[in-house]
Amino acid sequence: MADKHIHQPAVDASEIMPGARLTGDATAADLESIRRQNSVYVYEAPVRLWHWTNAACIIVLCVTGYFIGAPLPSMQIDEAYNQFVMGYIRFAHFAAAMIVTVGFFGRLYWAMVGNHHARQMFYVPILNMHFWKEVMFEIRWYLFLENKPKKYVGHNPLAQLAMFFFITIGLTFMLVTGWALYAEGAGQGSLPDTLMGWVLGLVQNSQRLHTLHHLGMWAIIIFMIIHIYVAIREDIMSRQSMVSTMISGHRTFKDDEVE
Ligand code: HEM
Ligand code: HEM
Repeated sequence: MADKHIHQPAVDASEIMPGARLTGDATAADLESIRRQNSVYVYEAPVRLWHWTNAACIIVLCVTGYFIGAPLPSMQIDEAYNQFVMGYIRFAHFAAAMIVTVGFFGRLYWAMVGNHHARQMFYVPILNMHFWKEVMFEIRWYLFLENKPKKYVGHNPLAQLAMFFFITIGLTFMLVTGWALYAEGAGQGSLPDTLMGWVLGLVQNSQRLHTLHHLGMWAIIIFMIIHIYVAIREDIMSRQSMVSTMISGHRTFKDDEVE
């Protein structure tokens, strides 16, 4: 079979499925695999829409936030009165921040009305020993200390843990500190100040609030680097689809072994 060329009809294939010669080089094993129901619908449309808009906005927030913290030497572009570089950067930051804020509330709503995978990111089953055993397994797998990965329909336990701390907690922290900074700019008596002004009182000074918000960015950047690496790594090395799952919603398994 190994020396068969593409577009040369396979004899065994036509015997098994005469009406559906998919490709010329389909073997009996290929057809057997196609017949199996090997995928499951996991991430519903609102989760996927949220994932990609949130990811895009967070990238905008990190780039513009970095420049807010370390401004460009904008005066070299033109006279100060002829340009608005920091203004545009802050505008992009606030626009993305507003989309992320609305999106996060939408995502919380979907955790309540969506399927059970939509809730996974919002809790950690701390009393479940099986969960922690699988977290340890995943750490070993990522460190190349296990030679066969496990199968998961939703997030694997280590992913769930990371998403809980860096997104559920981390993004909430960024929303709270970000809106508190915004409240300062909007001024006393404004709506943001009425809702979030107390945060400044809690951390006591504006510089500390900026520093906390700034440190939060680095936590999210660390998550992002690892997240994108493992998403692509698992797409290649695990026994299930990854990136396409966040696009189509379907998890496709690459073999039919149960565990
Ligand atoms: C090119 C960039 C990215 C790719 C390829 C990617 C890929 C993925 C994939 C495949 C999953 C599903 C993982 C699983 O099934 O366990 C996922 C989930 C997730 N990703 Fe990303 N991601 C990207 C960027 C980001 C960014 C920038 C963030 C935010 C910092 C992010 C936050 C999340 C979160 C929170 C989830 C869980 C979704 C949920 O349960 O609602 N992703 N990502
Ligand atoms: C993942 C989300 C976010 C990231 C990574 C991020 C990042 C940053 C960074 C690094 C700074 C500069 C801090 C400094 O060194 O002074 C900043 C400033 C700021 N951010 Fe965010 N931010 C995020 C979300 C938000 C949100 C949700 C808001 C709400 C409106 C917000 C509002 C602000 C404001 C008002 C400032 C100060 C602007 C100024 O001083 O001119 N941010 N952000």
